[in-house]
Amino acid sequence: MASKVLNRRTELILVFDRDNGISRQFEKANFERGTLGDLWLIKRGKKVIDTHSAVFPEELVKTIIENFSNEGDLVYDPFMGTGTTAIVAKKLNRNYLGSELTEKYFKVINERLQIFENELF
Ligand SMILES: C[S@@+](CC[C@H](N)C(=O)[O-])C[C@H]1O[C@@H](n2cnc3c(N)ncnc32)[C@H](O)[C@@H]1O
Repeated sequence: MASKVLNRRTELILVFDRDNGISRQFEKANFERGTLGDLWLIKRGKKVIDTHSAVFPEELVKTIIENFSNEGDLVYDPFMGTGTTAIVAKKLNRNYLGSELTEKYFKVINERLQIFENELF
């Protein structure tokens, strides 16, 4: 691990509304006013494989998907990595679509999805 590097303690999440670009009010959201703030304290994600150190915590993805989509919606993740978005989307009865540049991560995504399927049945 490189030395003299500040640890990043935050992740910036940008949420846009199609018809209401710059606002704190969203047309499609599932939370009541006062129940969701703009600072979420969430622990780091579990390491899935040694070569990928930027796995999203499931709770982060869950917070976004639960609050900004409905069951049956399609969730797109253009940078899937190890597939956390796909796993959480499935758990929350959403459909998912994604892209991933690195083939070895594609295999990890499929393995994680398979494990999740096996746990269901
Ligand atoms: C920060 S990681 C995403 C981690 C993911 N959220 C998870 O929980 O595992 C970003 C991923 O984007 C992939 N990536 C980078 N550029 C890409 C591109 N142009 N198209 C698709 N995937 C890309 C990288 O290979 C890397 O796995």
